[in-house]
Amino acid sequence: MVSRSTEHLKILIRRTAIQKRVREVARQITRDFRGERVHLIGVLKGACIFLSDLVRNIELETSIDFMAVSSYGKGKQSSGQVRLNKDLDSSIQGLNVVLVEDILDTGLTLSYLVRVLHQRKPKVLRIAALLDKPSRRIKDVKADYVGFQIPNEFVVGYGLDYAERYRNLKDVCVLTLPPE
Ligand code: IMP
Ligand code: MG
Repeated sequence: MVSRSTEHLKILIRRTAIQKRVREVARQITRDFRGERVHLIGVLKGACIFLSDLVRNIELETSIDFMAVSSYGKGKQSSGQVRLNKDLDSSIQGLNVVLVEDILDTGLTLSYLVRVLHQRKPKVLRIAALLDKPSRRIKDVKADYVGFQIPNEFVVGYGLDYAERYRNLKDVCVLTLPPE
């Protein structure tokens, strides 16, 4: 599709399919929490676009907050360690929390975040991940809401980056790098 220097992008999930699926996930959340308020927590920065589309399709009272973690460093390889770079602005005690992530890969990030957030006594803690790469899982974490299961490919777009680039692509694309 597009080449930037020698990096190559190929569409994996089209924007129309993403929009349709995000609306379905939002409907599911609306049904599951009927009559209640939902507090969405986005994991920066990857989840910001998914969260903003998701929240606009949830027909309930909502509030949002963000956390920032780093685990991947600048490239494609995970360092295997998770660091909390930005904490929540407000307490989640007694709230219906949906933790919103761009992608569930090894599970290291979400298992860390789930552990941290459980200690803060939300009423309910659920996970919504736009993408799920089950073949790469190291930690036993399951998302309650999954947009798409994808194969073991490195993807960018719709919030996901490679070295901070490509987050603005409207489609989710497989990124291929030239051999080193
Ligand atoms: P995990 O901790 O291995 O589950 O990885 C979660 C984080 O790694 C995600 O929030 C992403 O930031 C990043 N990540 C994992 N796979 C990809 C990918 O294919 N493209 C871009 N980022 C990824
Ligand atoms: Mg992320």
